[in-house]
Amino acid sequence: MNIDIITVVPDLLNGPFSHSIMKRAQEKGLLSVNVINLREHTIYARAQVDDYPFGGGAGMVIMIEPLVNAVESLKKTKEYDEVIFLTPDGQPFNQKMANTLSLKKNLLLICGHYKGIDHRFRDHFITKEISIGDYVISGGELAAAIITDAIGRLIPGVLNDETSALSDSFQDNLLAPPVYTRPEEFRGWKVPEILMSGNHKLIEEWRITQSLERTKERRPDLLD
Ligand code: ADE
Repeated sequence: MNIDIITVVPDLLNGPFSHSIMKRAQEKGLLSVNVINLREHTIYARAQVDDYPFGGGAGMVIMIEPLVNAVESLKKTKEYDEVIFLTPDGQPFNQKMANTLSLKKNLLLICGHYKGIDHRFRDHFITKEISIGDYVISGGELAAAIITDAIGRLIPGVLNDETSALSDSFQDNLLAPPVYTRPEEFRGWKVPEILMSGNHKLIEEWRITQSLERTKERRPDLLD
């Protein structure tokens, strides 16, 4: 899978894909992440990409031309399954969306910054708008990193033990059960005995019960 990300702050995306699972996914050739600097696609002097909003008001707006230039130049070599704009007024991101997007071949993520992007670009080029939650962050870059990570780890072969993605929280709309490791006892706090029993059927049943109880208690909305 290939994920292209258009941003005015490419440096913000230097770290998130250079470590751990995202790094391994790229090394295995299962994921490629390509960060595109919007400033390289502007026709304006001093690499300007934003301007004052028509009608007045605070903040700057990213202009349509650099965005269209960047997207059209990328589209010369590939076809995108989705062109996604990261925005607080988008569809709330969840595991189901991550699952669906992990099956795609080419995704293009557009990061907003400042007050937003010229709405004509949203009307004519964007196929999906995604929010990572009901709060505002300074730009779409961290949202793009979160979405890329959530999608990337679901690509078959990325995780060593593929079943470990299946037991994540939110798969099946359930929160994950608690996990424990060595030592068996610490300051008198013991690991639940069932996990030491070696009885895999009972352990599985215990995990399912724990998942259900935790979901009921913490996120009853998931069970609706
Ligand atoms: N840009 C700013 N806030 C955002 C959010 N909550 N989700 C996605 N992109 C954003």
